[in-house]
Amino acid sequence: MMLLQLQQITKSYLSGSNSPGRLILDQLDLQVADGESIAITGPSGSGKTTLLNLVGTLDRPDSGKILFGNSDLSEMDDRQLAIFRNEKIGFVFQQHFLLPQLTLWENVLLPTLAGGKGQNPESIERAKRLIQRVGLTPVMHQKPPTLSGGECQRCAVVRALINRPQLLLADEPTGALDQNSSGILADLLVELNKEEGVTLLVVTHSASVAAKMGHKYSLANGKLVNG
Ligand SMILES: Nc1ncnc2c1ncn2[C@@H]1O[C@H](COP(=O)(O)OP(=O)(O)O)[C@@H](O)[C@H]1O
Ligand SMILES: [Mg+2]
Repeated sequence: MMLLQLQQITKSYLSGSNSPGRLILDQLDLQVADGESIAITGPSGSGKTTLLNLVGTLDRPDSGKILFGNSDLSEMDDRQLAIFRNEKIGFVFQQHFLLPQLTLWENVLLPTLAGGKGQNPESIERAKRLIQRVGLTPVMHQKPPTLSGGECQRCAVVRALINRPQLLLADEPTGALDQNSSGILADLLVELNKEEGVTLLVVTHSASVAAKMGHKYSLANGKLVNG
């Protein structure tokens, strides 16, 4: 089953008054099957973050269609998209964006509070299990400033997965890590992709991170090509 279908996606940014918009994504197509792991590489400025933002429903294309399962994202208004995003999509960025005044445990549970549902026992159990899975149990009651970059990034991955998203989007997730921590994080992403059945889309500069993913594409001249 296809989880994600991008059809003829075009996106430009205005470069200033009187100048024409700069075309960043040019009739781009992409199909992602449920459960796949995909790496997208490409030079700085080629539009990787722009593409991830469109898939993540944080921005809209100028033209083209994005289908997520059976849902056409263009048919949802901003409020519907916000709910959809919170339920279906997890995000990991180059910076971990954990709240420094909260413990790892509290950071991980924060997304479960959205929607006013309150904390359920299932979320608590899942948080414990995932924290254990990524090796953070001994430090889960510490705050981010007392931990390493790799530990914080692993916590950010748990936070991204806590609501059981179908899709995990990672934009340069190892960009701020040393080589060793980068390898650990990339391995973990692929393992969780399989264990949790979460589809994984990773933008990366690192050839070794990209090599761990099931499929590799590179973004050039506004389009994706294999490899
Ligand atoms: N909000 C924006 N307004 C104008 N230009 C933008 C905006 N966001 C990105 N760009 C430009 O679009 C191009 C692609 O950016 P981006 O998607 O961030 O590339 P990448 O992630 O591959 O480095 C860059 O030239 C960038 O400067
Ligand atoms: Mg980028």
